Amino acid sequence: MQIMLLGLPGAGKGTQASRIVEEFHIPHISTGDMFRAAIAQKTPVGLEVKQYLDSGRLVPDELTIRVVQERLSQGDAKNGFLLDGFPRTLPQAQALDELLNRLGRPLNRVLYIHVPENVLMARLTGRRICRSCGATYHVVFQPPKVEGVCDKCGGELYQRSDDTPDAVKTRLEQYAQTAPLVDYYRDRKLLTQVDGERPVEDVYEEVRRVLMSLEG
Ligand code: AP5
Ligand code: MG
Ligand code: ZN
Repeated sequence: MQIMLLGLPGAGKGTQASRIVEEFHIPHISTGDMFRAAIAQKTPVGLEVKQYLDSGRLVPDELTIRVVQERLSQGDAKNGFLLDGFPRTLPQAQALDELLNRLGRPLNRVLYIHVPENVLMARLTGRRICRSCGATYHVVFQPPKVEGVCDKCGGELYQRSDDTPDAVKTRLEQYAQTAPLVDYYRDRKLLTQVDGERPVEDVYEEVRRVLMSLEG
């Protein structure tokens, strides 16, 4: 299973990804999560990408592609993977195609989680994330049992630095660079569109059906 999640910021990629990897046992490769971890650890990559993430702009292709290339070469990605938030530009998509073709393991499905843009500001500004395990919540749509505390591990919930109205606006503008990927993958007969404007569990039911049919 070599699959990818495509969608606007806040479409629910991370939320669906956590369910997919739990059921299908493939590594979750999120460039956003990798960059945030690098920033937290103050690595050279982290120092370089911080300004981009904080403001909501895309990290340059060359650096992003290098980070993904390294990640895909690790052992756990040999039996499949779930890409979340990569590729995000045409050059990234082309680089990924080249890399996977070289490895003889092309993508077998792109799930495009479709939501109207007007729901995203509320989803993103209300999002909260667990500092310990990365679980995602929403103050209204998916509240934890105890405010500010992770249901799964008891960790502290925090708000992402780019979930402010200003950074969200920039992220939505930057999506113009990602939108052409819908046609790119549709032309290659890899795209399945899923309606992401339903409750999380309903969206997952559909995602699951698509993935079960891949497993055959
Ligand atoms: P990244 O971390 O990928 O952020 P993003 O694409 O903006 O997407 P999000 O993570 O914000 O949204 P999501 O779709 O995962 O939504 P979620 O499930 O959390 O990237 C961050 C930054 O890193 C970029 O801005 C860029 O700087 C850099 N970067 C990353 N990849 C890059 C690349 N390839 N190239 C260049 N730069 C890159 O859900 C959102 C909220 O909605 C949550 O609160 C959730 O609880 C709620 N929710 C989810 N589903 C539903 C539902 N069905 N109904 C109601 N609420 C829901
Ligand atoms: Mg995400
Ligand atoms: Zn947690």
